[in-house]
Amino acid sequence: MTKDHSTLFDHPEGYGTVSRALHWLMAALFAWQFLSAILHGVDREMPAARFFWSWHMSVGVLLLVAVLLRGAWALINLGNRPVHTAGLLGTAARLGYLVLYLLMLAVPLVAVVRAYGSGRGLSVFGIEVLAGGGERIPALMAPANAVHGLLGWALLALTLGHVIMALAHAYLWREDTLTRMVRGRPASIARMD
Ligand code: HEM
Repeated sequence: MTKDHSTLFDHPEGYGTVSRALHWLMAALFAWQFLSAILHGVDREMPAARFFWSWHMSVGVLLLVAVLLRGAWALINLGNRPVHTAGLLGTAARLGYLVLYLLMLAVPLVAVVRAYGSGRGLSVFGIEVLAGGGERIPALMAPANAVHGLLGWALLALTLGHVIMALAHAYLWREDTLTRMVRGRPASIARMD
């Protein structure tokens, strides 16, 4: 089975199963993650905030792993994915995706580095991935202290912009941009392959 024949891989007419699964899984996890951050920002003592916050670090690490997989899969499929239109809107979309990827990487990464530098260790869904009891390394904690929350909110703003543009393409300009991520390539093309 070649890349072109398999619906697992991306295609210029629509995304493959792997890209679509990673996209929607990450959308759900980000919705959860932003909810935890918003509730924490509003009143960290309220029961709902405590509940969601108790998952913040585990879901954040899961998102870091997911974005690494997604980035690797995007590279494997490079040159075989839907292209953006030429012109200002297409350039803005490409730039937007680049910044989205950079923020999706940087936000959890600096937090994991801080957890390591804190010497308190890090557990993900109850499994210890970084041992605690180590020395405090302030230089490793400083980047997250300075930018983790700030870049996290910037990522939320950019994500909202991304959702609004996807809906505008689908319902205002009647283009099939959203379909490419929902249903993948049209069935007729999948059959022709
Ligand atoms: C992509 C994933 C992540 C996003 C979008 C995110 C987002 C945020 C946001 C917006 C805040 C500010 C909340 C407030 O102002 O009350 C925050 C705080 C925090 N996050 Fe995350 N986070 C992510 C991953 C992680 C990870 C992986 C860890 C730990 C390993 C972590 C640990 C913390 C901690 C300890 C705080 C409170 C201190 C601070 O604001 O820096 N986060 N996060």
